[in-house]
Amino acid sequence: MATAKKATHFPLLDNDDPQSSGMHPLKALTKRITEAYGPSGYEQGVRELIRDEIKGFADEVRVDALGNLIARKKGTGPTPRKKVMLAAHMDEIGVIVTHIDEKGFARFAPIGGVYPLTLFGQRCRFANGVVGVFGREIKDSTATEVTLNKLFIDVGATSKDDAPVGVGDPAGFWRDFSDLGNRIVSKAMDDRIGCVVLIEVLKQLKKSPHDVYFVFTVQEEVGLRGATTSAYGVQPDLAIAVDVTGTGDTPEANTMAVQLGKGPAIKVKDAGMLAHPAVKNLLAETAKEAKIPYQFEVLTGGTTDAMAMQTTREGVPAGCLSVPTRYVHTPSEMIDFNDLQNSIKLLVAVLGKQIKLD
Ligand code: CO
Ligand code: ZN
Repeated sequence: MATAKKATHFPLLDNDDPQSSGMHPLKALTKRITEAYGPSGYEQGVRELIRDEIKGFADEVRVDALGNLIARKKGTGPTPRKKVMLAAHMDEIGVIVTHIDEKGFARFAPIGGVYPLTLFGQRCRFANGVVGVFGREIKDSTATEVTLNKLFIDVGATSKDDAPVGVGDPAGFWRDFSDLGNRIVSKAMDDRIGCVVLIEVLKQLKKSPHDVYFVFTVQEEVGLRGATTSAYGVQPDLAIAVDVTGTGDTPEANTMAVQLGKGPAIKVKDAGMLAHPAVKNLLAETAKEAKIPYQFEVLTGGTTDAMAMQTTREGVPAGCLSVPTRYVHTPSEMIDFNDLQNSIKLLVAVLGKQIKLD
């Protein structure tokens, strides 16, 4: 048995967690941003963390009516300058309490794409810090046929009256960050890892010929709602989402070319959009010039904020840079640390040069 570590308490905004000390600063940032509480519609805590993190690096920071955080970095090129919008969503999937029974067990509805298979025995955490365990009705059912209505949340209550949560309270998955060396694991890589990429690009981008809008969006998991309104407001000339994508590199996985550790994935197509060929080429050509590994992504299920940005107003050339991720939409989403670093490098290179779309 390993030496017992002192029990660690995880506050909702966990800025000075002793576990982060000595960790690579980019991993420590990822730990902070991914562990924060933020199911769709309840992104305030994440937004405050990010706002703190980017202080002093943007020319203007504002929050729109839906809660999107929009940081603008003014370009240094001649006017009229292109407006480039980068989007990463702050929200994570989760659950929301629909009913509490006499014994204090909570029933729930999903927020976003929650797979019943991933829940039994896992934990969720509410805004007030209460942790719940997902249990399931075992009688008359087998593990393979679990549906959300056969699951419940046990928050340690003994009756309805002493339940520390109520109807309408949302919760996110609860797992702490794990550093496996080359690979890192967290409950909300989707899409806090995109937020980490945007934060780092904003910090590292010394100057750009373009006006760059770093948009940290809300409510992606429930229908790209934050990107819909923020793209309308920003009116970009070019839009790039940064999000996660699945991989085909685990035992008996669905056939998919994307692998962990082979570089950021440049989206060609997903279930909601076809990337603009010029945007796809811009990302691939820049990667080649900068000698950054990359791979192409064709995703058969799911989409990203790029879909909403592409179809705003009269249409915007749009694409997406994806961080390859295993076990998407589970409490243990895994990425490769080099892919993260290369995603940042690639976007800094793209934004640092004059962009011509052809
Ligand atoms: Co997602
Ligand atoms: Zn996502």
